[in-house]
Amino acid sequence: MYYPEELIEEVRMKNDIVDVISGYVRLQKKGSSYFGLCPFHNEKSPSFSVSAGKQMYYCFGCGAGGNVITFIMEYENFSFQEALKFLADRAGVKLPEIEYSKEAREKADLRSTILEMNKLAAKYFYAQLKASQGEVGHRYLRERELTEETITAFGLGYSNKYSDDLYKYLRTKGYSEDLIRQAGLINTDEKHGVYDKFWNRVMFPIMDINNRVIGFGGRVMGDGKPKYLNSPETLVFDKSRNLYGLNRARTSRKSYFIVCEGYMDVIALHQAGFTNAIASLGTALTSGHASLIKRYVNEVYLTYDSDEAGTKAALRAVPLMKEVGIAAKVIRMEPYKDPDEFIKNLGAEAFEERIGKARNGFMFSLEMLEKNYDMDSPEGKTSFFNEVADKLLTFEDDLERNNYIEAIAKAYHISFDSLQKLTAKRAIQKGLAKQVSRPRKTVSREKEDGSLKSQKILLTWMIDSKHLFGVIKKYISPEDFTTELYRTVARLLYEQYDSGEINPAKIMNHFTAEEEHHMVASLFHTKIQELTTKEEKEKALLETILKVKTQSLEEATKKLDPTDMVGLQQLMNAKRSLEDLRKLHISID
Ligand code: GTP
Ligand code: MN
Repeated sequence: MYYPEELIEEVRMKNDIVDVISGYVRLQKKGSSYFGLCPFHNEKSPSFSVSAGKQMYYCFGCGAGGNVITFIMEYENFSFQEALKFLADRAGVKLPEIEYSKEAREKADLRSTILEMNKLAAKYFYAQLKASQGEVGHRYLRERELTEETITAFGLGYSNKYSDDLYKYLRTKGYSEDLIRQAGLINTDEKHGVYDKFWNRVMFPIMDINNRVIGFGGRVMGDGKPKYLNSPETLVFDKSRNLYGLNRARTSRKSYFIVCEGYMDVIALHQAGFTNAIASLGTALTSGHASLIKRYVNEVYLTYDSDEAGTKAALRAVPLMKEVGIAAKVIRMEPYKDPDEFIKNLGAEAFEERIGKARNGFMFSLEMLEKNYDMDSPEGKTSFFNEVADKLLTFEDDLERNNYIEAIAKAYHISFDSLQKLTAKRAIQKGLAKQVSRPRKTVSREKEDGSLKSQKILLTWMIDSKHLFGVIKKYISPEDFTTELYRTVARLLYEQYDSGEINPAKIMNHFTAEEEHHMVASLFHTKIQELTTKEEKEKALLETILKVKTQSLEEATKKLDPTDMVGLQQLMNAKRSLEDLRKLHISID
């Protein structure tokens, strides 16, 4: 561990876990905890809990869990140090400079250096747009009906006609040619030497969810080629893990996103009040994007161009979304090409209406599919319905499948029964009749070994109630726990108890690996059967204590050296007290 524990604890305490996680997951209060859809696995009903009291989160579905630092590590894919830095910045805590290994330092440095350069470049482009040499860019954006407010909000800019002024500017700021190249801001060739990647274009800075500039898109003003030029992938720019506009859309508090194709579409939509619009970064939507979207919403409206390419893109996107549990709807823009043109011509209200009329993604794909078949011939129709039946097989849920069969039967004037039979027949032909449920893609959990379960229950009780802790402490010591991790956790908890402050989230600070955080979080979140009467509680407590004590003695017996007379004597005494304990009535009063 690089930082002193008090400092780590200070950062942790100044970042309330409910506050922080609310920025990422929609949480609802239920009893003493908050619940939401787990951002670490796909689920339809919430099993992700955040406890203000414990300052911990835990997913009962996939076992992810930890304190606020773990959450940032997992969600942002940060190392422990990076997460700590992030939270320290958030809370205004100053961290001392620390010694990284040379390699880690260089990599971390390079990332932040590229981010710094990008930020400078974005500011530079913005300043150019506002200066006289940027007049042409500014006029272009105004002609596209963007307001000054929108231009500023999206940080739009202009890259000059000179082909190396950004390069020169960044050199005066002390960055080497090599660094500027690694940021993707320059190109080199034999004829021209070093030149700016972007020149004479209006510039769209691309930001990650934390509003850091990770790359750029640049558009020609007019009809030149290529229309859009995008930054290459760099250490900080991963097109498959980012979406344009997500930094704003994630806080739009809408239950769905509007997914479109272009930067201009996103901007036009936001300007018209649809602040939940996003787009991919000049690439097709991937399943990676789908999972990213799933962290925020369960529903998307696809508003792709009305041309063939746009329709194809929508058709590809529907199953990708479905795969991660997102329902997709398709908004048609006809007679316009894209949302930007649509809004310019018909306005926001008309767009809102189109949202209302959006087609269910699956039904939309059938409509498109239909075009490939001659529906006037019996063969054509048969092949079409065979393909429809095959598509229906992708629904694992019977109810959902039947709902679609019903909708299709209605839309295509056929009977429910015949389509259902056809679907069943196709399933048998394809050997899918007995659908095996797919293994869940979740973190593998240790097989719950009965002995560990009792130990976990005790730990959960101990942090839930100081009073119970006091009772348990009379019979169980940290050494009674049978694995190293449990013993360490117990030892720390007992120390906290003695010092008068139970603080499970602080215990996490002793562990830096995410796996350990999951384990520790699970120790404090054991599902315990609801016990109502005092007698039931006392009985359960006694049984659990006895189990843990018995296991502890069994372990000790296994480890005992047969020649260790003193040890043997102690063990005999312990066994005798265990017998006494059995007869005891534990009172929780
Ligand atoms: P405008 O004409 O400015 O309205 O463009 P648009 O927003 O309608 O974009 P279009 O539908 O033409 O393209 C959608 C997205 O594809 C753009 O936002 C870019 O990310 C990407 N794109 C378009 N043209 C090019 C190109 O020539 N090269 C590359 N690499 N990407 C492009
Ligand atoms: Mn357009």
